[in-house]
Amino acid sequence: MKDRQCLIVGGGEVAARKLKHLLKAQSKVTMVSLDFCDEVLALAKQNQVTLIEGEYQSELLEGMYLVIAATDDRMANRIVSIVAQERNIWVNVVDDLELSTFIMPAVIDRSPLLIAVSSSGVSPVLARKIREKIEWLLPTALGKLLNKLKKLRPEVKKKFRRMSEKKRFSEWYIDTAIANPEKIESNNVELFELFESKINHKGKVSLVGAGPGDPELLTVKALKLIQTADVVLYDALVSQEILEQVRKDAKLIHVGKRCNKHFVTQDNTNQLLVDYAQQGLEVVRLKGGDPFIFGRGGEELQYLKASDIDFQVVPGITAAAGCASYAGIPLTHRDYSQSVRFITAHEKGENSRIDWKSLAAENQTLVFYMGLGKSQQITEKLISFGKSHSTPVALIEKGTTKEQRVVTGELHELPSLVEHYQVQAPALIVVGEVTQLANELAWHPNSELIQSEPYLSNELLERVANL
Ligand SMILES: C[S@@+](CC[C@H](N)C(=O)[O-])C[C@H]1O[C@@H](n2cnc3c(N)ncnc32)[C@H](O)[C@@H]1O
Repeated sequence: MKDRQCLIVGGGEVAARKLKHLLKAQSKVTMVSLDFCDEVLALAKQNQVTLIEGEYQSELLEGMYLVIAATDDRMANRIVSIVAQERNIWVNVVDDLELSTFIMPAVIDRSPLLIAVSSSGVSPVLARKIREKIEWLLPTALGKLLNKLKKLRPEVKKKFRRMSEKKRFSEWYIDTAIANPEKIESNNVELFELFESKINHKGKVSLVGAGPGDPELLTVKALKLIQTADVVLYDALVSQEILEQVRKDAKLIHVGKRCNKHFVTQDNTNQLLVDYAQQGLEVVRLKGGDPFIFGRGGEELQYLKASDIDFQVVPGITAAAGCASYAGIPLTHRDYSQSVRFITAHEKGENSRIDWKSLAAENQTLVFYMGLGKSQQITEKLISFGKSHSTPVALIEKGTTKEQRVVTGELHELPSLVEHYQVQAPALIVVGEVTQLANELAWHPNSELIQSEPYLSNELLERVANL
């Protein structure tokens, strides 16, 4: 559009918006209208647009490359369109697909990179929203990167003879520059040296938290990594929707405890990570929630460290934080809870190392991971160490997913709640006054909230009486 003659018929706000697009493209614009809005007048004052005050005449189309009809008179717009089409001039009629021979997409401008999003005129609002989403995902400094690639091109051609080498360098450089924008400025000699030192490098493992289930709770960094990794090893807790984000040609390996009835041991997983990284591949180890919270992330890293493999860790939203938020349970609250404890009900070995006495103290929130099968023991232990049997509790099943269920009740009835409502894994047990707020603050449209009827199971009543 640069230096092309364009005509806008109309002088209101819509016309002003179109004018700004054309000016951005450095077109030469004339506008015709009986009157003009302030914004247009201001631009005319700066000599950016020529204004013709008066009625539209078809002679004005003479020499025009493109015309936009932006009046609120449909008949007038129609006339502009018909005449323009007769003369093979591109025409766009605002909000009128039938009368237009072209439409204007929503544009992401990181010149020289341009991305246009079009809904074929059906919904400019949707196109704009998609543009915003893309914009958010795009790395910064893309324009700068493209300019650098343009300058690098002749040297790359000289330096690498084989097509595969050129491709490998370009891929490496683009990934490196996106991850470290400051590298864009490096001089070419430095870049080639860096590439050469990396070319024989071992791969890297990224230990990535996938969050509790809702794919939108993935971090931007996690998303970028799973979209670029060569290999992704994932656990049973990682949802299908998240796995769909993985690069299509990446190798996806399920290392859940029970995968196709084969028992994948922790040692097997550790070794796979090392093997793939040693092949020079970018490996993502994807875990539910946060990798450092009851996720054996630490053990895997120790193994990688011992094998001299590079790694990085990307935190994820842990189940306690994600599920409590989606259930409307604030984990702390100035009136009820001054601290929060994350506890695993699944311990290594026979002897429990859980300090039940301190867990029974007041004014705190307890979140038990992997506790479904231990609800009886949790209840008995807490009550025996002095926790009130009527302490509010909540069970959160498949938190943050479309199937989230929240069951609230009192501590003494916890095992019967699990049984009665057939609560399934993965689930969290939350103990503390804050859980009663779920009845007031539940907000998630897909979540089912079940408030248990206040009752005491006879068996538990007896046990409590005997404590
Ligand atoms: C092995 S731990 C992994 C925890 C994970 N690293 C994290 O930070 O959330 C698995 C336990 O996390 C809890 N969990 C994970 N995702 C959950 C979800 N969407 N809803 C409820 N509980 C969940 C359950 O208690 C499950 O047994």
